[in-house]
Amino acid sequence: MEGRKYYDFLSAYSAVNQGHNHPRILQALQEQAGILSLTSRAYYNNVLGEYEEFVTSLFGYDKLLPMNTGVEAGETACKIARKWGYEKKGIPANQAKIVFANNNFWGRTLSAVSSSTDPTAYGGFGPYMPGFSLVPYDDLAALEEVLSDPTVAAFMVEPIQGEAGVVVPQDGYLRGIRELCDRHQVLWIADEIQTGLARTGKRLAVDHEGVKPDILLLGKALSGGLYPVSAVLANNDVMMVIKPGEHGSTYGSNPLACKVGIAALTVMEVEKLADNAHKMGNILRGELSKLPKDIVSIVRGRGLLNAIVINEKFDAWNVCLQLKQNGRLAKPTHGDKIRFALPLTITEQQLLEWTEIIHKTVLSL
Ligand SMILES: Cc1ncc(COP(=O)(O)O)c(C=O)c1O
Repeated sequence: MEGRKYYDFLSAYSAVNQGHNHPRILQALQEQAGILSLTSRAYYNNVLGEYEEFVTSLFGYDKLLPMNTGVEAGETACKIARKWGYEKKGIPANQAKIVFANNNFWGRTLSAVSSSTDPTAYGGFGPYMPGFSLVPYDDLAALEEVLSDPTVAAFMVEPIQGEAGVVVPQDGYLRGIRELCDRHQVLWIADEIQTGLARTGKRLAVDHEGVKPDILLLGKALSGGLYPVSAVLANNDVMMVIKPGEHGSTYGSNPLACKVGIAALTVMEVEKLADNAHKMGNILRGELSKLPKDIVSIVRGRGLLNAIVINEKFDAWNVCLQLKQNGRLAKPTHGDKIRFALPLTITEQQLLEWTEIIHKTVLSL
């Protein structure tokens, strides 16, 4: 960009956990593009099986349903949950409810904005999807009340709310969700599109509490930024409610996406990105905590998904503009918060170079 060098600390909203254009993923893309990129789902392709086997064994689910973007994975999960609600839970026809948390973000389709509490996302796009309801995030008592309604099929939630400003719930929240969903026969859909794939210092954010959602959503870094690839994972008792012909996508499961997905996950495992995210995240929060409290009031996050809350006197947007001048790209979210989602390949030396610039920028305010 204008001959300047930047560190990207937004990582394309966590899509490039493996760093931009990782050579191993690029090579997989180039090789497969020279062989075959797209077949119809009506035909067998020799890469899909390999990909499904690889991903389901890595994450411990029976089945994977391949899609392209994150929001499509969310839409797919909602469809599966409704169908499961009718066929397995016995919810009367067309009455299934899906519960979301306040301040969620899962994309821009009509369903996603119908569950949004952000007027910028939903305003002017009504009428909205029926059968969606909301609960406060990180509030198990409120969740229990809502889930006791027998028409609730699923609760969809981010283990850490990314777009909301990296909101980390209290310890025990994820375990509590698991227990409540089991108690009330409700599917837990974990949206790990931003938090998953080593970002928070574990392969999945739910691994921090050792719990397993019924439906797992992956996207973004599933391709390391080289191609839109998303996935819905579930066990047979849930996934198999969808029968051939009831759901699909022209590009979902194409051989190019499958090869890119395998390469992106292999990089995550081989390069131990979760361990690096854990270590670098601790150093990063340690450094950010040294900033004056009257300017940066809160530092929060897990692994390399972090945010600072800036005193309202200092506009977060201007702070980001100044950081850009200094070669560091970051983005404010909701006025006073700046999200830092560094590539997980970052070294300690690069991290310290970066925090030095943050210190200088913040102290110059
Ligand atoms: C948690 C979460 N879910 C879903 C999405 C939607 O993904 P996509 O933009 O690929 O549709 C996003 C995008 O930022 C996200 O942060």
